[in-house]
Amino acid sequence: MSRIARIAALAILVVATTGGCAMSEEMRRIEAQRKDKERREKGMTTDLTGQEIFIRSCNTCHPGAKAGMGPALNQLAEHFPTDDKLKKFLRTGVGAMPPQPKEVINDQELDNLVEYLRELKVEAPPAPKPPENKDDKPAQGKRKKKKRKGR
Ligand code: HEC
Repeated sequence: MSRIARIAALAILVVATTGGCAMSEEMRRIEAQRKDKERREKGMTTDLTGQEIFIRSCNTCHPGAKAGMGPALNQLAEHFPTDDKLKKFLRTGVGAMPPQPKEVINDQELDNLVEYLRELKVEAPPAPKPPENKDDKPAQGKRKKKKRKGR
């Protein structure tokens, strides 16, 4: 073997072994990441009960289903005669009432929540209506256009 060939062979050997080592290191890292992700995703498939969801996502504004920042939830039958209507409302929200997308409340949890809401017995009287303040409502969104000084 010529000197050059020997050096080349040695070089290849070195690259193959150290490269291989780095490779398995990388694979171990990827595997660890995958397991980590799996664990995290398992933790996120919550399927919480209706009451758990309510406490987590609704109670701040509808404390004990009574009036707080939001109204008391004691007229659901009148306002949302069907579960579909109630679900649609919850998914989309209105005004200060935030929407509840699937990433936050999955379909199973929404079913649980609606069942829970239907069983609520709220004794409190309906919340007094907050004063109408049209200028403040974001939904109406009538913004004055800034006038540019033409030049
Ligand atoms: C940030 C405060 C806030 C949170 C959190 C919130 N709501 Fe509301 N909710 C409101 C407000 C404000 C309204 C009144 C909206 C309107 O009509 O302008 C409302 C209205 C409602 C209504 C309609 C009541 C009716 O009889 O017309 C229902 C039902 C309701 N919320 C259920 C829920 C549920 C269930 C959750 C949890 C998933 C929730 N809300 C979370 C503030 C909130």
